[in-house]
Amino acid sequence: MTNHPQRVLSGMQPTNTLHLGNYLGALKNWVRMQDEMDCLYCVVDMHALTDAGYAKPDEVRRAIHEVAAAYIAAGIDPKKSPIFNQSRVPAHAELAWIFNCVARLGWLDRMTQFKEKSGKHKERASVGLYTYPVLMAADILVYKATHVPVGEDQKQHLELARDIAQKFNNDYAAPDYFPLPEPVITGPGTRVMSLRDGLKKMSKSDESDNSRINLTDDADTIAQKIRKAKTDPLPLPTNENEFKGRPEAENLLNIYAALADEPVKDVMARFAGQQFSVFKGTLADLAVAKLSPITTEMRRLMADPAEIDRLLAEGAEKAAAIAEPIVKDVKRIVGFAG
Ligand code: TYM
Repeated sequence: MTNHPQRVLSGMQPTNTLHLGNYLGALKNWVRMQDEMDCLYCVVDMHALTDAGYAKPDEVRRAIHEVAAAYIAAGIDPKKSPIFNQSRVPAHAELAWIFNCVARLGWLDRMTQFKEKSGKHKERASVGLYTYPVLMAADILVYKATHVPVGEDQKQHLELARDIAQKFNNDYAAPDYFPLPEPVITGPGTRVMSLRDGLKKMSKSDESDNSRINLTDDADTIAQKIRKAKTDPLPLPTNENEFKGRPEAENLLNIYAALADEPVKDVMARFAGQQFSVFKGTLADLAVAKLSPITTEMRRLMADPAEIDRLLAEGAEKAAAIAEPIVKDVKRIVGFAG
C-alpha cells in the first residue's frame, strides 16, 4: 500500500466536438468524484497536435474553449477542481521528456491506439502520436495522481503509466516516489458504441455524424439520431444472455442505463419484449432531458471566451503550484542541478 494522498487527474483532447461517449465514459464520473477527492481536470491541448488539431490553430483554440465549457456545463466546479489546458503548465512537457527516457520502445510498440490511429503507414505517423501515452503518463504523475477516471479505451494507456511509475521508482531507487495510478472505469457508459454500428466505438473521428450524439447537438438532432440508430428486427432482450449477437441493442440499453443512473438489468426488465420504436422514443426524451441543459450552458459559456481563458489561467496557476515542486524533485532525483 502507498501513502500517497488520493488525487484525481483526467483530461480530454480538444479535437472536434465532444460526444456522448466522452460524457458517459468520463465526464459524468469526473463530476461525481469531485465530492470524493481533490480533482484536477485538464484540456490536453498538446495531445491535440498529434491528432486532428495539427496545423489547425483556430480549431485548436476553439476546441480548448469548447472542452473547458463542457467541463463546467456538465458540473465541474472550477473553484473546487482546477480546470486548465495542459500547455499552460510546462511541468507536463518537462516530465514527459524524462519519461521518454524511462519508457521502452517495446512498451509503446504494444499500444493498440497507436496502431489504430497510424493505420497501415506507421512511418508517416508523427513521433508525437507514438509517444502520446508517455505524455499522458506525465499528465497524471506530475500531480502524483492516484485515480484516473476514463473510458475503457484508455485502459492500456493507464497500464503504461503504471509501468513508467514503477520503473522510475525502481531504477532511481526511489521506492514509492510515484504512486501507481488506478484507472477508474465504472458504470454502463465506459464503452459507448457508434449509433450506426454496435461493434465500433462512438468516436469524434467517425465520418458519419449520425454515428454519435455531440454535446453541441440540439434537442431535435439528438431525437432524430436516436430514432435513426441502427437496431435489429427483434423486440428488446429480456436478459443479458440475449445480448449475444445484438451489439446495437446492448449499446442502446447501456446508454439508457448510464443516462438514467440505473443498473442495466433494471432498465432491461422495464423494456423487455417491447419494440425498439417505443424504447427509442423514451430514450430520446431521456437523452434530451439530460443533455440539453449541458448544451445550453455550454453555449452561454462559449459566448464569453475571455472568461473561459481567465478560468483556465487561474486553474493553471493552481495546477502548477502542485506540479512544479514535483518536477523539481524529479530533476534532483535524476541528477540535474537543483
Ligand atoms: P479522449 O479525448 O479521446 O477522450 C476523453 C475521454 O472520453 C472517453 N471516451 C469514451 N468513453 C466511453 N465511450 C466512448 N465511445 C468514448 N470515447 C472516448 C475516453 O476514454 C477518455 O476518458 N488519452 C486521452 C486524454 C488524456 C488523458 C490524460 C486522460 C491525455 N492525458 C491523462 C486521462 C489522464 C484521450 O485521448 O481521451
